[in-house]
Amino acid sequence: MTRIFLNGREIEVAADTTVLRAALDNGVYVPYFCWHPRLSVAGNCRICMVEVEGKGLDIACNMPVSEGMKVLTDSDEVRAARKAMMQFLTLNHPVDCGICDKAGECTLQDYHFAYNGAPSISAEPKVRATKFHDLGDRILIDNERCIVCSRCVRFTHEVSRSKALGIQGRGDTSLVRCEEGRRFDDPYSDNVIDLCPVGALLSRSFLYKARVWFLEATPSVCPGCARGCAIRIWHLRADRRLQRLDPRRNLEIARVTPLDDPAVNGPWICNKGRDLAAIFERPRADQAMLRGRPVPLAEAISEARRLVDGAKRRTALVSSWGSDGELAAFRDHLAARFDVRVKPDHVPQPGEIVEDDILIRADKNPNTRGARALFGERPVAFEPGTDLVLVWGEGFDYSRVPAGAKVVLLGSYLAPENGAADVFLPISVQTERDGSYTNSDGIARRFEACFPPGETIAHAADLFAAIGGRP
Ligand code: SF4
Ligand code: SF4
Ligand code: FES
Repeated sequence: MTRIFLNGREIEVAADTTVLRAALDNGVYVPYFCWHPRLSVAGNCRICMVEVEGKGLDIACNMPVSEGMKVLTDSDEVRAARKAMMQFLTLNHPVDCGICDKAGECTLQDYHFAYNGAPSISAEPKVRATKFHDLGDRILIDNERCIVCSRCVRFTHEVSRSKALGIQGRGDTSLVRCEEGRRFDDPYSDNVIDLCPVGALLSRSFLYKARVWFLEATPSVCPGCARGCAIRIWHLRADRRLQRLDPRRNLEIARVTPLDDPAVNGPWICNKGRDLAAIFERPRADQAMLRGRPVPLAEAISEARRLVDGAKRRTALVSSWGSDGELAAFRDHLAARFDVRVKPDHVPQPGEIVEDDILIRADKNPNTRGARALFGERPVAFEPGTDLVLVWGEGFDYSRVPAGAKVVLLGSYLAPENGAADVFLPISVQTERDGSYTNSDGIARRFEACFPPGETIAHAADLFAAIGGRP
């Protein structure tokens, strides 16, 4: 350990740490743009300057601590240096915060307010650069806003390892660009949108979709694969829901961002996790049916119960998208009467990355491990004489249903087999309920409801109790 004096306070820090890390870990905020806890140190933005007794001003992010060092993080000299750096960084920045997607969560905006707050001292016109340059199918760059911190470039070299981005040119003509002839098609590309400390890197899918102060984030878990990355699902704040002609638009996912979970995904997620709206916002099934005939939910439940009670040999295919709580409800209320098999609801799609050594897992279901812990690992198959099949969720080939067997189906999305089932029961999706999944490493993580379920839709756990409960 090394003893240093931070603004006069004596603290002990690890010998191999930097002044910036020591300050942040001890509750003293030092501003930074280019530094990031999960990337190498670039030391190019110079906003993190501190004063060291006997040495003067230097950058904290690249300065190792030394025994007895005396550091001031908020002296007159430090404040003057930060103000000068902010003047420099905003020299060519358009400060078009009113239309910038990063407004409300931009560190340049925050630091300008905290450390500068003065109009530009330059009489020269700002240098113009390309607006909305096409980097790839998902990302645009506004070069006027870029402060050339190189976080995005380092991300593609050090984390995603695609090396897709670099910087061409020098000084105020520097441009972040893809390697010549290439597009930014990295499967983790959207992380650079969060990483960019300004509004230079823009998501095509989120651009001009919402102001962030009208949104709120619900902690959740990505169900896109067995990694189960911790995420935030952003949606309109309840008090900001608009009187839209189509009220379902109030209940849309605006964007998905990572939630830093060191044991699961760190601060990153893959692009599939950003696209959860494509999974959750498919046309929903919200009508209970008996062989395609719409009926009240209570009638469908009582018919499902009658079929379960009357069957002699029953097989249940449980969902690997079911939460730990829902799977436990199935075990408690129904499992004893069924031959239970765990079914993958989703398999890799054409063109999808199956697996890599970063985050993506080959199993495209969030809770296979939780389901197998309760019901074992036997493949989907039917004992001779099976006369009832309960299917929970997606991914089952109905041509495999034994001849003459009845089908009770619990599903969330419109599908042809809903109408063919003897009983169809509409169930909630992850964004409409609380729960947890157990990922492929056995780590359980909770998710919370973002939206209320529709009135005609039931939670699967409640249906299991209703169908399996003793009369
Ligand atoms: S685009 Fe953003 S992250 Fe990349 S160098 Fe510019 S400011 Fe930094
Ligand atoms: S790695 Fe898997 S769990 Fe993580 S964001 Fe991607 S699809 Fe979702
Ligand atoms: S954060 Fe230290 S130089 Fe950028």
